[in-house]
Amino acid sequence: MSRLLVTGGAGFIGSNFARYWRAKYPDDMVIVLDALTYAGNRANIADLEDSDKFLFVHGNILDQTLVEELLRKHEIDTLVHFAAESHVDRSILGPDAFIETNIVGTHSLLKAARRVWLEEWEGKRTVRFHHVSTDEVYGTLGPDDPAFTETTPYAPNSPYAASKAASDHLVRAYMETYGLPVTISNCSNNYGPYHFPEKLIPLVITNILDDRPLPVYGDGLQIRDWLYVEDHCRGIDLILKSDKVGECFNIGGDNEWANIDIVRLICGLMNQAMQDEGNRKAFPKAESALKGKAENLITFVTDRPGHDRRYAIDATKTKMILGFTTKESFATGIRKAIQWYLENETWWRDVQTGEYRQWIAQQYDL
Ligand code: NAD
Ligand code: DAU
Repeated sequence: MSRLLVTGGAGFIGSNFARYWRAKYPDDMVIVLDALTYAGNRANIADLEDSDKFLFVHGNILDQTLVEELLRKHEIDTLVHFAAESHVDRSILGPDAFIETNIVGTHSLLKAARRVWLEEWEGKRTVRFHHVSTDEVYGTLGPDDPAFTETTPYAPNSPYAASKAASDHLVRAYMETYGLPVTISNCSNNYGPYHFPEKLIPLVITNILDDRPLPVYGDGLQIRDWLYVEDHCRGIDLILKSDKVGECFNIGGDNEWANIDIVRLICGLMNQAMQDEGNRKAFPKAESALKGKAENLITFVTDRPGHDRRYAIDATKTKMILGFTTKESFATGIRKAIQWYLENETWWRDVQTGEYRQWIAQQYDL
């Protein structure tokens, strides 16, 4: 039985991970530590909170004393670190929060783990610090470049990617210097339930339902490698259960799509969804999709500065060593994601707070 501390567990991937872990390992203790920034939402984990094997702690990863107390009091043996500022566009407008949370915050967690696990417990218990990172640390690819492997040199292009790269280096340094047992995963773009609607896929789905413009940056030909969020959780599970301490693992979907093609695909699926009588009644504002013309909402807008052209993950190492495979195809995953947003209107309306609306308006000048 394990005792997990999941940082950022009220966010998109962290909440999916907490739910995945509860279902698969019901005897394990899962403690979520989350500061509830605009991206963190207690509703994301509401269904988990009635279990005595689950605890939510409202707190900041920068609070080293709090993290040390949690490690001691709950005898944590596995720290899974998702907490981050995660949106590239926000990092361009305001990098400071990214430096604070992603770099200083990760360092604060490392210091707490070193103090309790290595100094107080004298390294006698089997513990693991797993750091959740991104493919963005590798920079950008040309159309014919081979996909990123774990040995691709780091070349981050946005303040977000640079802050994640810095945190990866700190995690590695704590292993090499102090012997902290760490693992790192670098994953491609996730999608699925509880994805915050400032990110491309949920933004397009929810904007279609409100008949709002669908902003496509630049020429829309940038490529991302999309992975259903539960497959990411399964990849982290495999890493945690392996004895590959000190290793980095790429996780990806072998699923490259140009942004404009994804947007057109979602438009087509939303047009279809609006043929259903229940959906027609539930979403009367979705005028374009109701007419079978959601693609009329596509609006090309100014490109993101420093926009990476292409990401692609080579997950051969993770497949060969850990047996990682994706269970969800994109054809089924994107339909499941759309269905989730159709069935969870209250959730996405609630997270679209005043702050969100202000941000979106400022972003796209809509
Ligand atoms: P998210 O923005 O949806 O959630 C981040 C969570 O962290 C939120 O609940 C937020 O409240 C919490 N948080 C932020 N600052 C905090 C702090 N100082 N202390 C405690 N909690 C804090 O992010 P996500 O998309 O779920 O990403 C999770 C992790 O996965 C991040 O580290 C991100 O870099 C990485 N990642 C994301 C993707 C993706 O496609 N979304 C892909 C690869 C890697
Ligand atoms: O690759 C992994 C990364 O994926 C994670 O590390 C990040 O945390 C996560 O946010 C995501 O970053 P991206 O920048 O790739 O995701 P986003 O959904 O913001 O954008 C996906 C692509 O769509 C990107 O090329 C920018 C483009 N885009 C995005 C938005 C929000 C648009 O064209 N229009 C939009 O409105």
